[in-house]
Amino acid sequence: MKTIFSGIQPSGTITLGNYIGAMKQFVELQNEYNCYFCIVDQHAITVPQDRLELRKNIRSLAALYIAVGIDPEKATLFIQSEVPAHAQAGWLMQCIAYIGELERMTQFKDKSAGKEAVSASLLTYPPLMAADILLYNTDLVPVGEDQKQHMELTRDLAERFNKKYGDILTIPDIRLPKVGARIMSLQEPTKKMSKSDPNKKASITPLDDLKQIEKKIKSAVTDSEGIVKYDKENKPGISNLLSIYSILGDKTIPELEEMYNGKGYGDFKGDLAEVVSGVFKPIQEKYYNLMESSELDDILDRGAEKANSVASKTLKKMENAMGLGRKRK
Ligand code: TYM
Repeated sequence: MKTIFSGIQPSGTITLGNYIGAMKQFVELQNEYNCYFCIVDQHAITVPQDRLELRKNIRSLAALYIAVGIDPEKATLFIQSEVPAHAQAGWLMQCIAYIGELERMTQFKDKSAGKEAVSASLLTYPPLMAADILLYNTDLVPVGEDQKQHMELTRDLAERFNKKYGDILTIPDIRLPKVGARIMSLQEPTKKMSKSDPNKKASITPLDDLKQIEKKIKSAVTDSEGIVKYDKENKPGISNLLSIYSILGDKTIPELEEMYNGKGYGDFKGDLAEVVSGVFKPIQEKYYNLMESSELDDILDRGAEKANSVASKTLKKMENAMGLGRKRK
């Protein structure tokens, strides 16, 4: 059985973008693959975090993974900082990565732009991400489009490592969703929907109150043409809403265009709000039950144990190949 690894940062409540680009894929894939899903808290601290908020967000993200349908009997769910091999292998990856290639990462450029004090870890974030993936002999990494460049670097680092130290690491492939690899902001539809957007009207989270979801969709920026038609260039707002409807409502975009032919944006948005609420309502019920139970800690303990046993083996192989420490049997 092939292996999948993916991670989400606990840096605020996940958005509809994270749900469609990542989590929804995870739920579909867990039946066919050996899956590891990680709460990447060490990545979250590459930018300042309030420690109490971070703790809360880690637990909340774990509950959301389960609430959206990750089955802990099928997939391994764990917290990155509870598996020390990640930071250790991250260091090894830093030792083979070049500063120039890290400086070229667009996420680094975006996050560091205009800032006076930028942590060194913001630059060395991609080698840690590579370590996350490579520790599990991962074949496939389901992510949204914004992680494409990090995935290319992960492959380069793995190939470089193997060339230098022998065939130890599996070279992973990226898996993007066919529709929804880049869900856009509801307020500025040429910009990615993001957890860190200070404008709360720009994104929907699976934990938003259903009335709030309706309000956000109804106030989503569209255009003045009034025709429900997919045209990413000229109609980015309505095209983004069509993508969301298509994925969550299980209809193709041409089917939706046909359904709303002759109708205005008001009808379309009203129906979309119902579709989104219909998906998130049961998730919310499950989420709040889980947050109050001890089941979540048991799941995370078991996940960390399983992840530790696999990751520590790969780490040992990597360290041996690089000549670190003493050779042991
Ligand atoms: P993060 O936490 O920013 O996002 C988690 C996942 O959600 C996807 N995503 C989106 N997909 C569609 N539309 C959007 N607007 C949107 N916004 C986010 C992301 O592509 C991602 O799949 N570096 C990663 C975390 C990470 C990781 C890993 C991922 C660390 N180690 C190993 C995979 C494998 C990140 O910051 O994701």
